[in-house]
Amino acid sequence: MAKATAKKKHRRRTRRTQAQRADRHELYQKSVQSPEVEIEFFSERFRELRGREPLTLREDFSGTAYLCTEWCKSHPERRATGVDLCADTLQWGREHNVEPAGPEVARRIELINEDVLTVRTRKHDIVCAMNFSYCLFETRERMRAYFKNVRRGLKRDGLFFLDLLGGTATYDVCEEEREIEDEDFTYIWEQASFNPIDHHMQCYIHFAFPDGSRLDRAFEYAWRLWTIPEIRELLQEAGFSRVRIYWEEFEEDEDDPDSDYLVGTGIYHEVEEVEQQESWLCYFVAEP
Ligand SMILES: C[S@@+](CC[C@H](N)C(=O)[O-])C[C@H]1O[C@@H](n2cnc3c(N)ncnc32)[C@H](O)[C@@H]1O
Repeated sequence: MAKATAKKKHRRRTRRTQAQRADRHELYQKSVQSPEVEIEFFSERFRELRGREPLTLREDFSGTAYLCTEWCKSHPERRATGVDLCADTLQWGREHNVEPAGPEVARRIELINEDVLTVRTRKHDIVCAMNFSYCLFETRERMRAYFKNVRRGLKRDGLFFLDLLGGTATYDVCEEEREIEDEDFTYIWEQASFNPIDHHMQCYIHFAFPDGSRLDRAFEYAWRLWTIPEIRELLQEAGFSRVRIYWEEFEEDEDDPDSDYLVGTGIYHEVEEVEQQESWLCYFVAEP
């Protein structure tokens, strides 16, 4: 019998890079989402326009249900429904957002793994589609069908909230970096292509880390860059009776008074006429 030679297995210890250790959903939430800002905006507009406190929210394209969870944490009677096509993302949200918020909050959140085009839910005070997710519907027919389905899910005095980005820079191929405050990574937004014929654009989110590693194409988006009048008209064609546009107020940068650029204040006003900007983000508030 051959004598077994003792071999000592030597497993080389490789230190994993920051990108390998990162969780893309966590990075996304930290760099792109501000649920507290949205909750304040929704609540203020709802009180102004409807004279009561909004309690039920349906978040379409809810992803990790971050907004649903913060909505329910913000008021003991609030309930939320999240709708998303991706079961894995919803599961991540259950484990990292909904369940850690505790059973009292979690029991007020329902997550539905369905298509927003066809989902049937109970009627809500508010339906929202944030971070331009609905722009993945690239034809007027699909967008109108989506808006009609939202209307079915709203109470008679409910409101539908959408956001949209635009400005002269959105028609460019470009890359924009942003250091995330108090965090150890850089967020990179890439507009990889824009076709002026059909307004189709391809975008990516990448993340870069101080150790030199990167998480490239952590998220990708194939969208149509819709314009405000197109979205407004489609909402009206879907039966919404009134569509208001809210625009952010800008002011001089206190930290850099010599700068040619103004900075957003986070305060939004209803508008009908504004000056074009290099980039802007506006909200639609639609009444059924
Ligand atoms: C950009 S993320 C939005 C995340 C989050 N709501 C936010 O505000 O940042 C887009 C999400 O939409 C989901 N999605 C895409 N098409 C959908 C559809 N037709 N119905 C429901 N969810 C959809 C994806 O699974 C993904 O989680």
